[in-house]
Amino acid sequence: MKRPELTLENKIALITGASGGIGGAIAKVFGAAGAKVFLHGTSEEKLKKLSGELDTESIPNAYKAIDINISGAAQELVDAVVNEMGTIDILVNAAGINRPQKPEEVTEENWDDVMNINLKALFFVSQAAGKIMIERGGGKIVNISSQAGVVALPLRAAYCSSKGGVNQLTRALALEWAEHNISVNAVAPTFVQTPFTESMFKDEDFKKYVLDSIPMRRMATLEEVANTTLFFASDLADIVTGQILPVDGGWTIK
Ligand SMILES: NC(=O)c1ccc[n+]([C@@H]2O[C@H](COP(=O)([O-])OP(=O)(O)OC[C@H]3O[C@@H](n4cnc5c(N)ncnc54)[C@H](O)[C@@H]3O)[C@@H](O)[C@H]2O)c1
Repeated sequence: MKRPELTLENKIALITGASGGIGGAIAKVFGAAGAKVFLHGTSEEKLKKLSGELDTESIPNAYKAIDINISGAAQELVDAVVNEMGTIDILVNAAGINRPQKPEEVTEENWDDVMNINLKALFFVSQAAGKIMIERGGGKIVNISSQAGVVALPLRAAYCSSKGGVNQLTRALALEWAEHNISVNAVAPTFVQTPFTESMFKDEDFKKYVLDSIPMRRMATLEEVANTTLFFASDLADIVTGQILPVDGGWTIK
């Protein structure tokens, strides 16, 4: 039997939201696994810095800063990847936002931004990349969802709705594109250790609520989320599609 290998050697991966915590960690893990990575985000400065930190061999890593919450941006992004790197083997949709608000105070603008960035833009980037993958005979899409796609969290009516949508979209695209050898899966983290969650944890009641809700009594690390994403993106997961994998220390098993 061949020794199983978790490698992305010779694979070209587009990672949206790579200027953020989770997308950035995925880029580093993918780079270490041998992938050529195209980084997307909103901060050109951060993307340039990250690009310089990744391994490069024959094809250099590349990046593009573009707001995916505008019409046509998804296609523009995918066109840029194809122009720069020739094709797309793997798409990771890690761009996303959260605007915590009580349901009775949610503004139409915040609702639209959360739904448009987390769900609509994710669909249209997948659509544009999916067309390339259909043409080339296969590919892998990994969506960064959240435990909020299956359990309700306070102050997150729009966010939970968007992530529930991401989970169903993952299944729908997996079904549609299975015949093209494209797998579509999602990683669903609990709260992840980032500077953002660190500042939320200054609220001791909130910190207690989160840690009491996780049977393993700790948040996920960026690397743990990135490693799970790597599994879905690798050949080891070739037959796995339409699955939502919680990375949540057991929050959603209760
Ligand atoms: N941090 C957590 O605790 C946690 C837990 C579960 C799921 N998630 C999900 O993981 C993903 C990444 O979150 P993160 O913690 O790294 O957040 P982050 O804020 O560090 O990164 C978000 C990324 O999305 C990009 N982005 C946001 N709006 C955009 C827009 N309009 N156009 C283009 N790019 C845009 C940002 O540039 C950034 O690169 C999100 O989908 C989030 O919902 C996060």
